[in-house]
Amino acid sequence: MKIEQALNLHDFREMARKRLPKIAFDFIDGGADDEICLKRNRNAFEQHTLLPRYLTEVCERDQSTTVLGKRYSSPIGISPTGLAGLFREGADGMLAAAARDANIPFMLSSASNIAMEDAARIAPDNLWFQMYCTIDDRINRDLVRRAGEAGINVLVISVDVPVSSNRERNRRNGFSRPFRMTPSIVLDALGYPGWVIRYLRSGGMPMMNNWQPYGCEGASAAEIADMYGTLTPAAMTNWDTLAWIRDAWKGPLVIKGLMHPDDVRMAADMGVQGVVISNHGGRQLDCAPSPVSLLPEIKQAVGDRLEIMLDSGVRRGSDIVIARCLGARFCFFGRPTLFAVAAGGKPGVDKALQIIRNEIDLILGQVGCPRFDALGSDYLR
Ligand code: FNR
Repeated sequence: MKIEQALNLHDFREMARKRLPKIAFDFIDGGADDEICLKRNRNAFEQHTLLPRYLTEVCERDQSTTVLGKRYSSPIGISPTGLAGLFREGADGMLAAAARDANIPFMLSSASNIAMEDAARIAPDNLWFQMYCTIDDRINRDLVRRAGEAGINVLVISVDVPVSSNRERNRRNGFSRPFRMTPSIVLDALGYPGWVIRYLRSGGMPMMNNWQPYGCEGASAAEIADMYGTLTPAAMTNWDTLAWIRDAWKGPLVIKGLMHPDDVRMAADMGVQGVVISNHGGRQLDCAPSPVSLLPEIKQAVGDRLEIMLDSGVRRGSDIVIARCLGARFCFFGRPTLFAVAAGGKPGVDKALQIIRNEIDLILGQVGCPRFDALGSDYLR
């Protein structure tokens, strides 16, 4: 299948499956333990229905919306995905450029291959920086400083990886961090010559450029990745960590990965401006609830005190409309956009975003609500 033939986001997954060695595809696609949370994330959307209002004029439809003080063309954004360069050379930059062109936010992972300063040059108005706190406070402070100096709009702290999770597909496939070619991986990769050629041509394991300044001079990509592995996860991260980040960071601050309504209330009390309700796409706690099922309680806990956003399992325009009716202002994609960039580079991401924009547009017309901002619980059944 060619990129132009894709009809929905599921098609990019299948295209990526054909282009990536199994170990790489499974790293993206997989979840924790029994992967029940992956199914729960989809089921949660499927349990909702939208009740349309007909005989309403819907000739002109507007899906633009505002979050954290900035108007975006659509209520969607790209979630942070580390190591994207492993799936296509330059993937982070392509995702940033696609977000810029579509005027939507892109959360750059701190585990990206591109440096945040370079990503900020590509998408100065659309870049948010996602940070995992490390065990080294000086590095944490330096990352916050660098994000500010790079002119990045929004700082996102991911809090849902206090410790690593059990991802059995990775373990069975021999996926190690840092990623290293073993004979069985080479054997698998031989079936995907396009990927192998690109991997070798780009010098093998891509550098995690945000971390290079903290390594020894001349350190290889594998050595920097090793260092990153010793710095994260940082199990000691707590609300005091959040407090100093709140003081050090001058722009909007978002926490990604909170789920408990009391935690979201705490975040609001601390002056955090937004949360991305997320179970990390089912990659951490397999028995976690789906974010969409938590929206009513969270909305009740904090009302409009902070921006409520969501990811994990979003695949259709109707999901985004349902999430909005339940109180989320914005939805993000993790795997779909990563599959799209792996399958087709920037044109792949452009196409995926165009598909989802069209789907949102059609749903707005079908439910009889021409303005995304005007959606509310009235449209839910
Ligand atoms: C992720 N995710 C993630 N989250 C984060 O805060 N920092 C990161 O570096 C990463 N890295 C990462 C890599 C890969 C390969 C995947 C698939 C995911 C989680 C991601 O931001 C997001 O929360 C989920 O992917 C959302 O779920 P869906 O859309 O994939 O179902």
